[in-house]
Amino acid sequence: MTDSNVIVIPSKACLNLFTTIRDQTTPPAQFQFAADRLMTILAEETIAELATTPVTVHTPVAAFDGVAVSTDSMCAVSIIRAGDSLLECVRRLLPGVSTGKILIQRDEETALPKMFYSKLPPDVASKKVILCDPMLATGGSAIMAIESLESFGVEPKNIIFSNVVACPEGLKAMADRYPDVKVVTACIDEGLNEKKFIVPGLGDYGDRFFNTV
Ligand code: PRP
Repeated sequence: MTDSNVIVIPSKACLNLFTTIRDQTTPPAQFQFAADRLMTILAEETIAELATTPVTVHTPVAAFDGVAVSTDSMCAVSIIRAGDSLLECVRRLLPGVSTGKILIQRDEETALPKMFYSKLPPDVASKKVILCDPMLATGGSAIMAIESLESFGVEPKNIIFSNVVACPEGLKAMADRYPDVKVVTACIDEGLNEKKFIVPGLGDYGDRFFNTV
């Protein structure tokens, strides 16, 4: 992954929404509402990275050269649990898209990822994959998920990792292991603290989104 493979989405709206979801006093309902809005912008930008087929349409006035996206050529995969929140945004924007799930949990003591389960579309190897996880901390979970996708025949160059908050450590780990995976993120934070939490971050995204704090 070169720097050109990391895209920070250009949106002024994100700052407003980030301010809400980073605030530790934001109640769960407001967190979920703002996070949904933010992830919808992120999901649109991620899908746009895959919309590369040129098409010409006709307005009532003239021809217009644009691009199209084919839902048939892609699938969306979440890293459970937090990834499900982003996955649902992608599914709202791409109704009927093939969907897969990978359950990986980060150990609370060691911060190392552990794989529990995966269920992927049978033709996943022939598709572009939008891999959804709002948080990229050490990168261990995302890398383990990509290893799982690879074991089902997916080429890393066909994977886009869609992410709300990244950090330099996680991006470096991804770049070292999977230079061909494209990352679309809403923000790159300062780094990790001694507990491997993103700083400033927003705490545990899954716990806050699903109100299990
Ligand atoms: C969080 C987050 C990522 C992972 C990031 O999930 O959603 O999956 O940790 O950390 P890493 O880059 O260091 O691997 P967690 O395992 O806490 O589970 P959750 O989704 O149930 O909150």
